[in-house]
Amino acid sequence: MNVLVVGGGGREHALCWKLASGHRERRVFCAPGNPGTALVAENVAIAATEVARLVAFAKDQAIGLVVIGPEAPLVAGLGDALREAGIAVFGPSRLAAEIEGSKAWAKQLMHKGGIPTAASRTFRDARAAHEYIREAPAFPVVVKASGLAAGKGVVIAKDAAEAAQAVTDMMESRQFGDSGTTVLIEEFLSGEEVSIHCLTDGETMLTLPTSQDHKRLLDGDEGPNTGGMGAISPAANIDAAGIRSVEEEIFFPTLHQLARAKRPYRGVLYAGLMLTRAGPKVLEYNARFGDPETEVLLPRLRCDLLEPLLACAEGRLSEVSDDVFSVDERAAVTVMLCSEGYPAAPKAGAVIEGVEEASLMQDVLIFHSGTAMKHGQLVAQGGRVLAVTALGADMAAARARANAAADRIHFEGMQRRRDIGWRALARTQGEPGA
Ligand code: AMP
Ligand code: GLY
Repeated sequence: MNVLVVGGGGREHALCWKLASGHRERRVFCAPGNPGTALVAENVAIAATEVARLVAFAKDQAIGLVVIGPEAPLVAGLGDALREAGIAVFGPSRLAAEIEGSKAWAKQLMHKGGIPTAASRTFRDARAAHEYIREAPAFPVVVKASGLAAGKGVVIAKDAAEAAQAVTDMMESRQFGDSGTTVLIEEFLSGEEVSIHCLTDGETMLTLPTSQDHKRLLDGDEGPNTGGMGAISPAANIDAAGIRSVEEEIFFPTLHQLARAKRPYRGVLYAGLMLTRAGPKVLEYNARFGDPETEVLLPRLRCDLLEPLLACAEGRLSEVSDDVFSVDERAAVTVMLCSEGYPAAPKAGAVIEGVEEASLMQDVLIFHSGTAMKHGQLVAQGGRVLAVTALGADMAAARARANAAADRIHFEGMQRRRDIGWRALARTQGEPGA
């Protein structure tokens, strides 16, 4: 079967690698892809949001399954256009993807379904938002742009002045364009975060192994928020009973509400959860795989990914056995290598060395997030550049190996964390910080 993966980051490299490995008979295409996906798939020079061209390509190449990586093409309706053309697609419709694309709508859905999440108010009028802030009973509060903002639309405001500034930036200065015309102001939740992904055809679901992103730029979870500086799998902060309760109290009622809203969901639903004292609560839903979660998760799956994804696309996930995911019990750690200046003002163009050497290490995988070929050299495109994943007998071994692999890679101004998994390790070692 021919498969098309849409997108061009580390998540899509990991998806292409997983779909292609062990299946020489399968043709895997990636649009637009990157120098990393070119190693495992055939790159196609079509941008992820060029809906008409992607549909035409999928028809021409008799693509049997399209896997949509990023949120933008989902929200642009790529899934709908492909389905209308009779092509199987892993990824929700435009309306179902609003669970990520409209935080206001997602919140409404969660309230209807009694799904645990932060208390919040939605504002379409800046004056009303400012008034609410002046009377807010407690700080910090979290100010969120309702629409897509490339992971930048969340401000944790420690006082009224910061909250008011965020409202002004989003609603009045239109920092995120139309994405900020509606704003949510919500209760600050404290606790540790965990990412849980489930594959679903809208009726049944299969939960993937847990993972934990590390969003802050610097060691010890200091510094500004980023798209994710690294990840671990499994997450150490939730056990099997906790996962079951997330399925029952969060995922199932969410799928039910989506179906009731006539927006049945086919694809991966990713819940970003805060583990609070009162139990897990939804911080956000994403209509796609996480990045860097995908890079840490997929190397732990022993099975082929095509069959479960195709079963979701075709609405027959119930035919796929629960234990299809034979999981590698070893731990995985992903370390992100980022450009100088990331996240505020990332610099592009640095020449990257050592990738091949690092990728030859045992149980190490290097996924390209933001690279390009220039005059025959691999260069950083600015932002998150490479995701270095390693497997190990335990989290400490996986981290040591990922760090050792990252040590072999160099580019000017490279930024990385060395402590990915520190909370999980502190927990097992009984150190403070767990
Ligand atoms: P989101 O895009 O909604 O997941 O927000 C990005 C990050 O902001 C999350 O991963 C959390 O670290 C943080 N965050 C979002 N909402 C809240 C909240 N209600 N309380 C505390 N932190 C939050
Ligand atoms: N890892 C965060 C995200 O993919 O949204």
